[in-house]
Amino acid sequence: MMHRTGQMDSDIARVVITRAQIESRVRELAEQIVADHERLPADGEGITIIAVLTGAMIFCSDLMRAMPMRMKIGLLGVSSYPGTSVRTQGARLLTERTGDLRGRHVLVVDDILDSGSTLHLVKGMLNEHSPASVKACVLLRKQTEQARRTAVEYVGFDIPDEFVVGYGLDYDDYYRNLRDVVTLRREVIAGLG
Ligand code: IMP
Ligand code: MG
Repeated sequence: MMHRTGQMDSDIARVVITRAQIESRVRELAEQIVADHERLPADGEGITIIAVLTGAMIFCSDLMRAMPMRMKIGLLGVSSYPGTSVRTQGARLLTERTGDLRGRHVLVVDDILDSGSTLHLVKGMLNEHSPASVKACVLLRKQTEQARRTAVEYVGFDIPDEFVVGYGLDYDDYYRNLRDVVTLRREVIAGLG
């Protein structure tokens, strides 16, 4: 049978992180997060995971299913790369469905840390809800000065400062369903370079 992928595969320049690498790192991160939580003074309530939409949806759904513990899940919609942008346009909060966070341990999950403006915005906003703690977990961290200066407790992979898509990350909302993290060929990205 012929597989038609709607030209996605031919748009790929380079695979940066393979699906196998992601799978094993997600398992490690999940174990580490669960172990760290178990070390906290008696907390039978579990944690609240806050997925930052849309980019974190795939990472977060894999991560949470690898965490055999009590948890609630909330959603925040943040936009910083609207449409065909490949540089941050500043993070903007679009949707807020966090549930009651008072006294709860909160874990923010995002796809990638770049300028840090998303995490900064989200953590600031969550802290206003008087949680017991707020930690952050990102699958990817770009090698930028700003990313290095941003506090984040769990990082999947450090990657070069390049525009990537796949495993939740998009270009113009496409490519999120690719199973690897990849760079795109220059011709595909209108305003790149
Ligand atoms: P920051 O706010 O600059 O740290 O960037 C974080 C947000 O920008 C992420 O949640 C992503 O949605 C988006 N983003 C950053 N870098 C990339 C990329 O290389 N590809 C796709 N989206 C990205
Ligand atoms: Mg995002």
